[in-house]
Amino acid sequence: MINVKLLQKVKIVNTDHLDQTILEILEERQYKRPLVVLDRFLLNVQIIKDTLNKLKNNDIDFAIFDGIVPDPPTEVVDSGVKAFKAHQADCMIAIGGGSSIDVARGINIVRINGGSISDYATSHKTIDPCPGLIAVPTTSGTGSEVSNALVITDKDSQKKLAILSDNAVSEYAVLNPDLVLTLPKDMTIATGLDAFSHAAEGYLSTLASPMTDAICEKVMFLLYHFLPRAVANGQDREARQRVMVAATLAGWMLNNAGTNIGHSSAHILGSKYHIVHGEAVAYALPGVLKLVGSTLPHKVREIGQILGVTYPEGAPESQTTEFAINAYKEFRDQILGLHPFTDYHIDQREITSNAQDVLHERFAGNTPVNLNLKNVQAFLDEFGRQ
Ligand SMILES: NC(=O)c1ccc[n+]([C@@H]2O[C@H](COP(=O)([O-])OP(=O)(O)OC[C@H]3O[C@@H](n4cnc5c(N)ncnc54)[C@H](O)[C@@H]3O)[C@@H](O)[C@H]2O)c1
Ligand SMILES: [Fe+2]
Repeated sequence: MINVKLLQKVKIVNTDHLDQTILEILEERQYKRPLVVLDRFLLNVQIIKDTLNKLKNNDIDFAIFDGIVPDPPTEVVDSGVKAFKAHQADCMIAIGGGSSIDVARGINIVRINGGSISDYATSHKTIDPCPGLIAVPTTSGTGSEVSNALVITDKDSQKKLAILSDNAVSEYAVLNPDLVLTLPKDMTIATGLDAFSHAAEGYLSTLASPMTDAICEKVMFLLYHFLPRAVANGQDREARQRVMVAATLAGWMLNNAGTNIGHSSAHILGSKYHIVHGEAVAYALPGVLKLVGSTLPHKVREIGQILGVTYPEGAPESQTTEFAINAYKEFRDQILGLHPFTDYHIDQREITSNAQDVLHERFAGNTPVNLNLKNVQAFLDEFGRQ
């Protein structure tokens, strides 16, 4: 089979007129009964209220499912499927961060393919094409609006499960920077660092290619230059737009280059010890740079360069890796101001079982290093401490 290196199936629309664009999409696709998927907070945001009013005034018969919670459990997808069927919906408009869009993708998979969403996480049940998802991101981080992944929490095991399917990507991603102007500072930092990690881990992945590398480099560049501005002044629309574009491009890279042990550890530790996803991947990244610096020092060196490092002439690889790690930490802690790592009650006695879980997590295998219990334990031992 041909090893395609750059696949993009989502129609991406940039707009300054969200309401009009949504109407045009519905008309073009002849969708008449959308289910709007969001959380209660977003229902009260003015631009979203205006968009829903516009749909109402144009006789679009929509229903609202506002049961989204952060780090959604599988049950939320079940409730969403019921809401979809009760309304006899023919499409979805998912408005929100990764939580809303991931749940909507889960609803779409189940309403078209049957069963329950956990079936697709635990076995490799086939997923037929799932049209009808219009994704409208209000955070700039997960890239869920274009990614083929959905992350859902299994309540019993407290584990985050990732489901990947190119057949379940959004039909449209609608980008409007006005939607992120209200994103609080701490969320701007965490989601922006999530996008940075998507690009950095994709760059340091066994699935990386020259095509994905070029895009990942640009994503890191955009975030290094514009995320600090969006953090300093949330109303800086130009910076918000650049960060939004970077996050969406990074989401696209998730489908093509994947992530690595950084995201695996964030999924395992994040769900177990309740660490915000973007913060977990940001605490993990110095360890990723160190680990991959042993096999691909030139790529870690490039990341440092994007982060403003000028290396002393003839500096050995061990030193360039260290410079790159320090530059990332300065970006994360000083320039953006991510709050310092607290121990999150991570029980060091659980390090062996956590390392086993990380080793078996689906993205760990993309790490361009031979992972074993010993080096994963060493990685986890330093998680958050650097
Ligand atoms: N599908 C993927 O490829 C992918 C990738 C990475 C992470 N994820 C998953 O996505 C989820 C995290 O998503 P997220 O970081 O976007 O956050 P989120 O969707 O969980 O939202 C977090 C909070 O921010 C609020 N919020 C969202 N937009 C806002 C805005 N514009 N103004 C004010 N508040 C706003 C929401 O109401 C919510 O309370 C996790 O479950 C994570 O595992 C998915
Ligand atoms: Fe992520």
